[in-house]
Amino acid sequence: MPDSPTPWQSFSDRIHAAATADEIALVEHELFGRKAGAMTNALKALRDVSPDQRRTVAEDLNRWKGALETQLETRKKELGSPSEEKMKTADALDTSLPIPSRERGHLHLIPEFIRTVEEVFGRMGFDVATGPEIETEEMNFNKLNIPPDHPARDLQDTFWIKSENPEERLLLRTQTSPMQIRYMQSHTPPLRVIAPGKTYRKDSDATHSPMFHQFEGLMIGKDITLANMKAVMSTAIRELTFPDAEFRFRTGFFPFVEPGLEVDMRWRGDEGKSREGKWLEVVGCGMVHPNVLKNCGIDPKKWQGFAFGFGVERLIMIKHQIPDLRAFFSGDLRFLRQF
Ligand code: PHE
Repeated sequence: MPDSPTPWQSFSDRIHAAATADEIALVEHELFGRKAGAMTNALKALRDVSPDQRRTVAEDLNRWKGALETQLETRKKELGSPSEEKMKTADALDTSLPIPSRERGHLHLIPEFIRTVEEVFGRMGFDVATGPEIETEEMNFNKLNIPPDHPARDLQDTFWIKSENPEERLLLRTQTSPMQIRYMQSHTPPLRVIAPGKTYRKDSDATHSPMFHQFEGLMIGKDITLANMKAVMSTAIRELTFPDAEFRFRTGFFPFVEPGLEVDMRWRGDEGKSREGKWLEVVGCGMVHPNVLKNCGIDPKKWQGFAFGFGVERLIMIKHQIPDLRAFFSGDLRFLRQF
């Protein structure tokens, strides 16, 4: 090390004396700062030194530069980096402070309810399947025993979709029933499945929405009867709404079941409210029509069973006494936060 008391020695002393990472950072900046660092400037000034002295001066400078860099690194390691140091205090947690109250998000009541549906039917041995919302006319109608001129098509005001292939007309599924077909075509009986999902019809009022949810159910076996259907329906309705739910079966017509039934539930609610005591249709069901089984390659002489389609929003309306189905989709937080 050169013996003249250069400014470098005082930098070196400061490095050794530095007590905090911030102090060391300051010395480093004063030495090696790109604009005004003392070492940076001295190295720049080399070009003004006369050629015969330049070599010695440069050697001297470089020795100091190397020495100071090493000292800086060593001292920095000893003191820890400024960020670590800051974190020791800035990140300290005062565990005596109260936990800030934060609003927690949650599922919308429809997917939440569908989870319960899957649980309830899961306990009865039902599998869960999902399928496309854009369906073919073939799956949504033809295979379900609803030929093109059938009046049942008018009951389900359909959203048709422009399709490139004129042979295969596309639509937004009007019901989850095409899932019966898809499931029977890809599985061999005996079968137990539910298929929840979105469905679409041109309809909008207090009990209809252009997009709504259904879950389809299908149970096929060697000796499945209407009595089994009633038992499954009753259990599901009670578990999904109230243990003492009031409901009634009445005949209904759907081309893909024979016989067909509908289930109404009695609206509960405050005395005097408009719906109180009235019935709301929540399910269509029945024994799967032999033509539908045949369409899926299942022999109706060997296999039989039932199918059902629940309206999800309507079940929730009954359960929580929500008079207008459109509330589900309004996005009003005052409504959503209640669930
Ligand atoms: N798909 C029918 C509807 O949407 C309901 C239904 C399903 C009826 C299964 C019978 C069997 O109205």
